[in-house]
Amino acid sequence: MNTSLLSATKDSIELRGVSKSFASQKVLERISLTIKEGEIVALLGASGGGKSTLLNLMSGLLPADSGDIVIQGVPARQFQHWQRIAYLFQEDRLLPWRTVEQNVHFGLENSALSKQERRRRVADALTLVGLSAFVHHWPHQLSGGMRSRVALARSLVVQPQILLMDEPFSRLDPQTRGSMHEELLRIQALTGMTVVLVTHDVEEAVVLADRVVILKPQPGRIHLEATLHLPRPRVATHPDVNEQIRLLRLEV
Ligand SMILES: Nc1ncnc2c1ncn2[C@@H]1O[C@H](COP(=O)(O)OP(=O)(O)OP(=O)(O)O)[C@@H](O)[C@H]1O
Ligand SMILES: [Mg+2]
Repeated sequence: MNTSLLSATKDSIELRGVSKSFASQKVLERISLTIKEGEIVALLGASGGGKSTLLNLMSGLLPADSGDIVIQGVPARQFQHWQRIAYLFQEDRLLPWRTVEQNVHFGLENSALSKQERRRRVADALTLVGLSAFVHHWPHQLSGGMRSRVALARSLVVQPQILLMDEPFSRLDPQTRGSMHEELLRIQALTGMTVVLVTHDVEEAVVLADRVVILKPQPGRIHLEATLHLPRPRVATHPDVNEQIRLLRLEV
């Protein structure tokens, strides 16, 4: 039996009729969305549309008011998410008093892994993001792109099956952003993890995602879902990629 084919079609994240309000403000209204294992999904939409709230619900940090959120077959709030889900916030949240290596190690400090295994994982994660030569540097000695890589390594060190990312590259210059995109795609292909990426940038969504989901605000609901069949690597200047970007921009 080909298990890789079987696992490729398993559900990773399932939301069924999920609603969420803050005080009297309805932020998300009956969201239903199924994300497959190993899929890269980009969430796009106007500010205040509930994108970050949706990631908070998926991560189990926030309870839904109604509806079901199921992560790999288990209700989100019961999920042992520290070992399976990594959540990469928009700001890098590095600890300035810790070196690169110590910052990445932080991701494992609640785990039951042996000291040796933790050390190995930290080294592997830093190699994955191309920072093995900078393990003893301090955050203030790094460029913005390098800091983003450290934050990514800190997420990867738990070897997550699901990576939730909230606009992680929005503050980077275009060149650094491009290399972070390549890095993410390379690591995703290597690990097969599921990625949910929030972005304001249609181009970023089209370059990275298997599927794009556009939310509309007040209350946040799914306006459009589009599966992208474009071959990789995708370059924004390629006519097919460019046309997809143009079409989706009309919808956001
Ligand atoms: N903890 C909270 N308490 C009260 N209101 C909240 C809370 N979190 C979010 N909101 C409100 O919910 C709405 C959606 O917020 P959310 O952060 O999910 O939007 P977003 O799509 O991520 O926006 P942006 O693109 O600006 O990051 C906003 O109106 C926001 O003010
Ligand atoms: Mg947000």
